[in-house]
Amino acid sequence: MSEPPGRTRLTVTLTVNGSRQVADVEAGTTLLGHLRDGLGLTAANHGCDTTSCGACTVLLDGRSVKSCTVLAAQADGREVVTAEGLAADDRPHPVQESFREHHALQCGYCTPGMVLAAVSLLREQPDAGEREVRCGLRGNLCRCTGYHNIIRAVLAVAARGGPDSAVKGDRDADGLRAGSEHRLS
Ligand code: FES
Ligand code: FES
Repeated sequence: MSEPPGRTRLTVTLTVNGSRQVADVEAGTTLLGHLRDGLGLTAANHGCDTTSCGACTVLLDGRSVKSCTVLAAQADGREVVTAEGLAADDRPHPVQESFREHHALQCGYCTPGMVLAAVSLLREQPDAGEREVRCGLRGNLCRCTGYHNIIRAVLAVAARGGPDSAVKGDRDADGLRAGSEHRLS
């Protein structure tokens, strides 16, 4: 007897934070669910699960996406960066550091997604001004900060010429690190 549609299992291969990850997942598994429950990467958070809040934001091939509404299977063969993968050589990414400097977080629930959305924005517009930053982050909600310090933090990075290429996933040309393939089922 065949599996019900959502229960069909697929093999999905991702490069996550520079590490190749192969797993068998149910066809209906979201990228967020796979990252958190399959790979144990819990920086991306569940918020609305309807593409409204941005708590689940990750980078997919370098661009921010809301992982609650991307299927893991849709990311097959692609590169994913989560907040766990931003720091390089134990040093925070410049956007993370700027959030710390400008007190741009309180409870921190929105912060991983907010930082990744800012990284994506600043890569596309390294010299973004306040209008561009406010517009670019409008899909990421914060219940605590009132946004002012978040905007200041992102503008400070723009003023320094934009984010550097410290994202781990960018460092290896083929996106892989030796000996880092994993298979889950
Ligand atoms: S949990 Fe994905 S946008 Fe809210
Ligand atoms: S710091 Fe609490 S939701 Fe943004």
